Amino acid sequence: MNCGKVQKLQVQNFRNLNDNVFEFIKGINCIFGQNGNGKTNLLEAVYFLTNKKSFRKNTSFPQMMDIEGVKPEIILQSVFDFDGDLISYTVRTSDKLEERFWNSKPEKSKTPSLSVFVNPFDSYSFHTSSTFRRQWMDSHLGQLDLEYKQVLNRFQKAIKFRNSILSATRYIKDYPAQLKAIDLQVSEYSEVITKKRADFMQNLNNFISPTFKAIFAEEHQLHLELDSMFLHWNAAKIYDFYRSQERIDVEAQVTQVGVHRDDYLFSFDGLNSFEFCSLGQQKMSFLSLIFGFIELFQFKFNSYPIVLIDDVSGELDGQRWKNLVQYLEQKSFQVLITTANENFKKELENLKFSRTFFLEHGTLSSNQG
Ligand SMILES: Nc1ncnc2c1ncn2[C@@H]1O[C@H](COP(=O)(O)OP(=O)(O)OP(=O)(O)O)[C@@H](O)[C@H]1O
Ligand SMILES: [Mg+2]
Repeated sequence: MNCGKVQKLQVQNFRNLNDNVFEFIKGINCIFGQNGNGKTNLLEAVYFLTNKKSFRKNTSFPQMMDIEGVKPEIILQSVFDFDGDLISYTVRTSDKLEERFWNSKPEKSKTPSLSVFVNPFDSYSFHTSSTFRRQWMDSHLGQLDLEYKQVLNRFQKAIKFRNSILSATRYIKDYPAQLKAIDLQVSEYSEVITKKRADFMQNLNNFISPTFKAIFAEEHQLHLELDSMFLHWNAAKIYDFYRSQERIDVEAQVTQVGVHRDDYLFSFDGLNSFEFCSLGQQKMSFLSLIFGFIELFQFKFNSYPIVLIDDVSGELDGQRWKNLVQYLEQKSFQVLITTANENFKKELENLKFSRTFFLEHGTLSSNQG
C-alpha cells in the first residue's frame, strides 16, 4: 500500500460542508472553528474517501447526505499527490450505487491512501467496552492485512448462519449435520483469526511503549494481550470444542464461545490500564496505541497513512499537547487536526509546515499559508 497525500478536496452534498475547494499541505493542516461548524465532518469526508466508510458508528449514505441537498448523491472530488505524481480520485455515492474513479477510470477496490482516525475521546470507550476494543482491533488489523479482513468477513457470515440454525433447531430436521458442516468452516476461520490477532498484538507491542516515550517523554511499559480461549489451538481442536459445545449452544440458541467474543487486555507498567491509570494516563496510553499502530503501518508498507486527529486539545493538559505537537512536527505524515481551542491553534501555527483553515458553517472562510 503506497499512500498518497490529499492535496485537494471538493465535496457536494456531504453533511454541512459547502462545495469550496480545500487545499491541503503535506504537513500539518489545522482546521479551526467553533463547535458545530463542520470540522469533524471534513475529517469524515477524507476518511470516507480513503477508507470507504465513516468512522462514525452506524453511519452510511443517508446520514452523510446533506439534509438540504437537492439531488440524492454525494460527490467527493480529490487530487492525491504521490511524491509529485498527481492523480485525481472521485467518489460518487447514492443510496443504491457507489462509483469510484481513479484518473477518470472506474476503480472498484484500490483507494489512493488510507487514513487513521485519532479521537482521544475514544479512550473512554476503548477502556470500558470490549465491543469497542474488538471493533477497533478488527478495523485496524484489517488495514494492515487484507486476508484478515476477508477471513473475518467469512467467519461473521458463518457464525450468523450457525446462529440462525441454533435458533430454529425445532424446525430443522437435519440440524446436527448442518451444524457439523458449518463448524468445519468456523474452526478453520477461527484458527486463522486467532493467529493473526496474536501476531498483531506482538507487532503492536514493539511500537507502543517507544511511541509513548517519543510523544510524552516518559518511560512506561505498555502491553497488549489477546484474551482468547483459542490461543494456540489448531482448527481440529477448535472443531472438537464446538462439537462438545453443541448441546449447550442448542439450548442457548446462540454460539456462546468463539473469536467473536475475544477481548484484549491493555496494561500499563504491568497493571490493568483501566483499573489503575488516571484518565489522563489512559488517554496518553490510547494515543500511544494509535500512533504506535501508525508506526507499525509505516514499518509494513514503508508509507504513512493520512492522520486525522479530532479535537485533541480539549483532552490533554498544556504540556501534553506541546509534546504531541512536537511529535507531529518531527514526523513526515500528513495530518489534518481539528480544534476549537484558540491556544492550540496558535501552537500549531508556530510550526514550520502547517496551514490553518477557518471553518464556519461548513465554509472555508479564509486560510493562511
Ligand atoms: N447530513 C447532514 N446534513 C447537513 N448538516 C449536517 C448533517 N449531519 C450533521 N450536520 C451538521 O453538521 C454540524 C456538526 O458538524 P461537526 O460535527 O463537523 O462539527 P464540529 O465543527 O466538529 O463541532 P465540535 O467542535 O463541536 O466537535 C452540525 O451543525 C450538524 O447539524
Ligand atoms: Mg467535532
